[in-house]
Amino acid sequence: MSKILYISSEAFPFIKTGGLADVAGSLPVALQKNSQDVRLLLPAYPEVLKKVTRSKVIASSTCYSQPGNIIETRLPGSKVIVWLVDCPAAFNRPGGPYIDSHGQPWDDNALRFAIFCHAAVNIALNKLDLNWQPDVVHCNDWQSGLVPALLSLQPKRPATVFTIHNMAYQGIFDKKTFLSLHLPVELWHMDGLEFYDQLSFIKGGIAYADKITTVSPNYANEILQPEFGYGLDGLLNSRSEDLSGVINGIDEKYWNPGTDEFLVEKYNRRSLNKKSINKTELQKECQLPVDATIPMIGMVSRLVEQKGLEIILESLSDLLSLPVQLVILGTGQPHYEVQLSEWAEKYPDHLKVIVGYDESLAHRIEAASDMYLMPSTFEPCGLNQLYSLRYGTLPVVTRVGGLADTVTDASEENIANDTANGFVLKEQSADELIVSITRALALYQKPVIWRQLQINAMSGDFSWQTSAEQYIALYQQALKENN
Ligand code: ADP
Ligand code: GLC
Repeated sequence: MSKILYISSEAFPFIKTGGLADVAGSLPVALQKNSQDVRLLLPAYPEVLKKVTRSKVIASSTCYSQPGNIIETRLPGSKVIVWLVDCPAAFNRPGGPYIDSHGQPWDDNALRFAIFCHAAVNIALNKLDLNWQPDVVHCNDWQSGLVPALLSLQPKRPATVFTIHNMAYQGIFDKKTFLSLHLPVELWHMDGLEFYDQLSFIKGGIAYADKITTVSPNYANEILQPEFGYGLDGLLNSRSEDLSGVINGIDEKYWNPGTDEFLVEKYNRRSLNKKSINKTELQKECQLPVDATIPMIGMVSRLVEQKGLEIILESLSDLLSLPVQLVILGTGQPHYEVQLSEWAEKYPDHLKVIVGYDESLAHRIEAASDMYLMPSTFEPCGLNQLYSLRYGTLPVVTRVGGLADTVTDASEENIANDTANGFVLKEQSADELIVSITRALALYQKPVIWRQLQINAMSGDFSWQTSAEQYIALYQQALKENN
């Protein structure tokens, strides 16, 4: 059994902006089930504190003259111990974890997450008298990127693992910020935290962690190329021996159509007929024509370029002239929110757009839809196509990242050997999107084949077990090499 400090800037059900929260809210539970002694470290945002029922202060932790505490609680619905970094100056404010109410990044984000990282380092080095020192520190994304860098300067330290969930977000700040944070000068060089004379938090993880992972094997290869490496493909290539991909799992406690409390009608592989009751209910709710035979395409997403919004908008006039209904739930860049809403006004019988964040509706869209739209430009793993597969909702995806690793196209050959579970675009373009959806609609008219595709999709193993085992093997290797 190893002691694992798992560090994340969000975790479901406490706080969530995207898939990282789903991962951080479920992988630690899977690790614990596999006999690991895990602590989850999270910032104490107001939204988190509101959801905490039982807690106690277990240490004080002042950083950059800002007083703070470490609060202990549990991850709801599990036995995993959560330690919250409660530094009010950094985290006690309204708005999102990373952006303010105007959608702008908090201007003190570097300081906020440096405080978070210093707290993590102090725990990792057993400086807070917590009577628990990790063997392995597992960091996620740029917000915890300084941790491997700072620990690398210690003669005796835990092993470090850094997981990249998205290369597009790197935590870049100017050099003045590096100086104002009083970070050790020996970290400032092109193989360290410096990125073209700027401070890069993500480089702290990539350059200094003992092991680097990303959330699918395919994305681990893609980021070695300039197209997906966002300027860090060179550094990643130099570390390729320590880089690997471990696919995300899904939390069956929350994402299982057979037990999902958000659904009007629960169903499983053997009662797939009941799935369409969820569709007619959603049609009523969305003021769409109510008819179970009309194919419905769903999408629940951050509305950003990554998720294929450009080709979706380009294809909308063709798409909405097909006999389909499209339901989109999302928030993100205002121009996407506005454009989609305008299309919905013009095509009220074909398109419903809900701008907002709604956990319950997300589940109901997954259950109601026949197909799921995810034509991403890049996708490190993607959880929504996994949820869709689990719900018998066939994903229409591009051949990138984790989408390529998890969705098998409904080609004649794959249909014949029962491996097909969705539709994969030949390239990321509006034309190909229409080609794939047209292909899907033709198969939708063949109920026996469609049912088999749904069964194939729902039969996939998306549990965390295999991935948790892979992480544990990686921890063991990092520990061996670190000794
Ligand atoms: P990413 O992390 O890049 O946003 P993922 O597919 O990995 O993409 O995970 C997205 C997660 O966020 C899923 O759990 C999805 O259901 C959820 N989500 C995204 N947008 C919304 C929304 N508007 N309302 C509810 N859930 C959302
Ligand atoms: C990121 C990626 C997404 C991935 C998620 C969880 O947000 O964009 O593809 O599924 O992290 O790892």
